[in-house]
Parts: sequence; structure tokens; C-alpha cells
Amino acid sequence: MNSRAAITGVYGYVPDYILTNAELEKMVDTSDEWITSRTGIKERHILKGEGLGTSHMAAKAVGGLLAKTGTAPEEVELLICATTTPDYVFPSTANLICDMTGIRAVGSFDIQAACSGFLYALTIGSQFIETGKYKKVIVVGADKMSAIVDYTDRTTCVLFGDGAGAVLLEPTTEDNGIMDSIIRSDGAGQNHLVQKAGGSRYPPTHETIDKRWHYVYQDGPSVFKFAVKNMADVSAEIMERNHLKGSDVAWLVPHQANKRIIEATANRMGLGMDRVMLNIHKYGNTTAATIPLCLFDYESQLKKGDNLVLAAFGGGFTWGAIYVKWAL
Ligand code: UT7
Repeated sequence: MNSRAAITGVYGYVPDYILTNAELEKMVDTSDEWITSRTGIKERHILKGEGLGTSHMAAKAVGGLLAKTGTAPEEVELLICATTTPDYVFPSTANLICDMTGIRAVGSFDIQAACSGFLYALTIGSQFIETGKYKKVIVVGADKMSAIVDYTDRTTCVLFGDGAGAVLLEPTTEDNGIMDSIIRSDGAGQNHLVQKAGGSRYPPTHETIDKRWHYVYQDGPSVFKFAVKNMADVSAEIMERNHLKGSDVAWLVPHQANKRIIEATANRMGLGMDRVMLNIHKYGNTTAATIPLCLFDYESQLKKGDNLVLAAFGGGFTWGAIYVKWAL
């Protein structure tokens, strides 16, 4: 191993339109009280506009990242996009983002691991740095969940929002960066959280549309049970194998699906909620974008050398944790 991969820049983007709990109360049989107490969500941002997909938000995040870090598009050697809501089945959203941001003739591809996608993509991206193959890799997590949410289904439509977040990875020889990573999956969970149609098993037909199979289906309580256990277990595991106690961790950076899942994870790690990044109240669950959006929102509070534990759980099932020592 030549060096570690460090996050040397972070940027986020959410679209302007805000969908509030009050507005959802007019669309389905729900209440601000139910949504707030069960999930912690108050509002979410929604991408409006004909022909605008996930790439639109991801390109804003990547463009902002390039400008902020003073990186020319020609310097980027690889771009990985984590998304569950690609613009097209093919070509990949990563290809489109490169085109929109002037990044030419480099490798770019999508990773699909639902809500754990950013952790998967970060794990993969960091390998290209650690081996010495590349010096500048961009990892972006982006999802336009509003494209696959059924706004007549109160059990899912209150949960999700749209957004994108991107990080720049560069080599460091200092004792910081991406220190360790665990990614896991269990396909036995496939039926609990799924968009059933639109892929090769059930291509679009009148029947799949009538059955509403192109929307997110979630068995909330089952997913909740697995999420609480696995996110807490994997966070504890990465702490143990890196000899970290609760008091050593400056921040938990959790996937933002439900405030109650986040609290259970923090509790298991021995962390007070004052050391947990939380923005679910303003964005909802933006799937692959939640973790980079947290890093972007909390960046001013981070200090060089801070120990961060990133943790996620999502459809598949997929889950994971990454130990980052902040390098900026
Ligand atoms: O990010 C990917 C991974 N996803 C997750 O981690 C999500 C995990 N699951 C959850 O976060 C929670 O299960 C939900 C927030 C989705 C649901 O919360 P819950 O406490 O598990 O509620 P529930 O599904 O058990 O529903 C309780 C009641 C039901 O009514 P009855 O059967 O008790 O009369 C639901 O129909 O709440 C009802 N309900 C609602 N009521 C008002 C469900 N959704 C709503 C709603 N407004 N939006």
C-alpha cells in the first residue's frame, strides 16, 4: 500500500423546492406530528423541472467541489456515482456527470447499493488511491427519490427527498484519511425494500404500471428492525477493530433514514446526540446523498484528526461502516 486516501474536499447540493409536512398533510392521510415523532423529518427538497434527473444535482455537487478545491476537470482521474435513481438504465449517471462538468476520457461508473451506496463507492474509490493508481478520484452520492416515490402511499412518500453530495479523494502520507471500511449485504432482504419493475425481471408493461411496481415498496417495520441491529453492530465492529472507545469518536455520520435508528446506533456506540450529524429534519432520506450532505453541512465543525464513523443501512439489504480520520 502506497498511501491512504483522504477526503480533501466536500460539496453538497439540494434543489430549491421544499416539500413540507404541512403540504404532505394535504396529499395523503398523515400529520406533521406523526412524521416528526416517527421519523424526525420536517421537510425535504424535491427536484422539479422537465427532463432533469439525478445527474443534474450530482453535476451541481461535482461542479461546486471542483471550484471549491481549485481542481481542474482535466485533473480528475476517476468518477464514481452512487445512485439508485440513475437518469437512464444506461448509460451510467457517472458518464453524464462527467460530460456535464467537463471531465473527459476518464473512467466513470455507477454503484448501486441503495442507501449504503455512498459507503460502497467511497470504499471502492479509496482503493484506487491506496494502490497508487490514481491521485484524484471523485465520489458522488446522488438520488432523485421523488422519481420513484408514490405520492399516494403515506407509508413511503413522507420519508424521501432529493439531493447530491460529492467528495474529492487524494493520497495522504499523514496518519489520517479513510482508515478502515466494512461493507456487507444480505440479498434475503430483497423483498422488504424494492422497486419491483423497470429492470430485466419485470420490464415496464401496462400491468407493472397498474400494479404500481415502479414505485418504492417498503415493509417499514421489518426494515427498521434490520436497520437498527445492523447499523449499530457494524458501527460497534469498526470501532472495536480500530480500538476506538465512544470517547475517541468525534462524530457519528449516519445515513439519515429515521432519527430513531440513528439514536439507537449512537446509544450502542456510547455517543451523545451532540456528536451525531443530523440533517434528516430538512432533507429527509436522500438515499446515497445523506452521508456526503452531512459532511458538507457539518464541515465547519470538523477539526483535522477528528475520528468519524460513517454508517449506513439500506435496500438489498446492504450496510456498512467507514472509519475516517478527518484530514482537512
Ligand atoms: O433508508 C433505507 C432503509 N430504510 C429505513 O431504514 C426505514 C426503516 N423504517 C422506518 O423508518 C419506519 O418503519 C417507518 C418510519 C417507515 C414507519 O414507522 P413505524 O413506527 O415502523 O410505523 P408502522 O409502519 O408500524 O406504522 C404504524 C401505524 C400504522 O397504522 P396502524 O396499522 O397502526 O393503524 C400505519 O398505517 O402508522 C401508520 N402510518 C402512518 N400514519 C400517518 C404509516 N405511515 C403513516 C403516515 N402518517 N405517513
